[in-house]
Amino acid sequence: MSKTVLVTGGAGFIGSNYCRYVLKNRPDYRVVALDALTYAGNLSTIADMQRNPETASRFAFYPGKIQDETVVNGIIEAEKIDYIINFAAESHNDRSILEPGSFIQTDVYGVFTLLDATKRHGIERMLHVSTDEVYGTIDEGQFTEHSPIEPNTPYSASKAGGEMQARAHRVTYGTPTIVTRCGNNFGEFQYPEKLIPFFVTRLIQNKKVPLYGTGLQVRDWVYVMDHCSGIDFALHHGELGEAYNVGTDGECTNREMVDRLLKLLDKPESLVKQIEDPRGGAHDKRYSINSDKLKGMGWKPAYPFEAALESTVKWYLENEDWWREIIAKPDYQDFVARFYGKYLGEDL
Ligand code: NAD
Ligand code: TYD
Repeated sequence: MSKTVLVTGGAGFIGSNYCRYVLKNRPDYRVVALDALTYAGNLSTIADMQRNPETASRFAFYPGKIQDETVVNGIIEAEKIDYIINFAAESHNDRSILEPGSFIQTDVYGVFTLLDATKRHGIERMLHVSTDEVYGTIDEGQFTEHSPIEPNTPYSASKAGGEMQARAHRVTYGTPTIVTRCGNNFGEFQYPEKLIPFFVTRLIQNKKVPLYGTGLQVRDWVYVMDHCSGIDFALHHGELGEAYNVGTDGECTNREMVDRLLKLLDKPESLVKQIEDPRGGAHDKRYSINSDKLKGMGWKPAYPFEAALESTVKWYLENEDWWREIIAKPDYQDFVARFYGKYLGEDL
């Protein structure tokens, strides 16, 4: 049956890939993207869907903030929205250490605005995209949906706050919410500030890459299209009021990840610079996510980790125009200088 899906944060990394996923896999759906076009949202990230005649007729884009209820309510009415998937967020831990306020605005208050609009307009389902980081860190074993919520950074605390708003809305007003929590994503169109795209784009330029502390922290990596299929599965098959972990058993240390990237790009170890950990005590040691609940309902990831990482690196090699335009912008250069200047010095 035909549906119209509002994808907030649709000009960002995962949101844009989710738009691609729906346009490809659900030919009778329309996709409406809403995005504030912050530093992380770029029109070049959605240009392919707007240019391609097969997708352009089923894709619309609106600039605007999720906290702006006039914008949100206007789009829902004009486009007759059936489902809302909320990707819009301030999403980078390191930026949250520098400027936590914008995270609370978007990741908490913005979620509340969408929940209220969901309730007011009788939206069928609102899926809120969260993160495994709300659980904090785990030394052994895996996070399940019943693990305590113990966030450690301003980013993860804001995401936990958004989720709690969703939970309370469901309990208090019966709002039809679903929450998903995923591990660290990688893939095409990821803004070059998080580990993989930051390192890949710097290594391509033969610039040094800053490895925090020992490099022994563990992240549980998920290829973005597996995350998108998990979200889509939870949207259509999930139970209202439930939370679902989305993971693909992609655990590795940051050091191991850097070694893989060096190998894929044929770059020397001398480009790795181990620096004092800028996150200090807020640096979560290990994430590990158990997705038996979603898998038990029939969801299956489709992309082997090594092959997905290789194709991601290849994408950055073949799409230099996309990321070079971004790294040339003053806000990107300001952030890198502000956050890394003191650690990288002349290697900046
Ligand atoms: P991103 O930073 O690449 O994209 C976020 C998008 O949201 C950007 O396009 C930005 O312009 C937009 N945005 C920011 N504030 C907004 C606002 N107030 N109103 C409307 N749009 C706004 O982030 P991402 O990596 O694509 O993450 C998307 C979602 O997935 C986030 O909610 C994030 O917390 C969650 N998530 C990310 C990861 C990951 O590894 N990247 C893992 C798990 C969950
Ligand atoms: P990141 O990609 O920022 O994601 P998250 O903070 O959500 O896990 O970081 C992944 C890991 O890589 C984390 O342990 C911090 C580390 N890291 C570095 O060592 N150097 C870097 O320049 C960045 C951005 C991250």
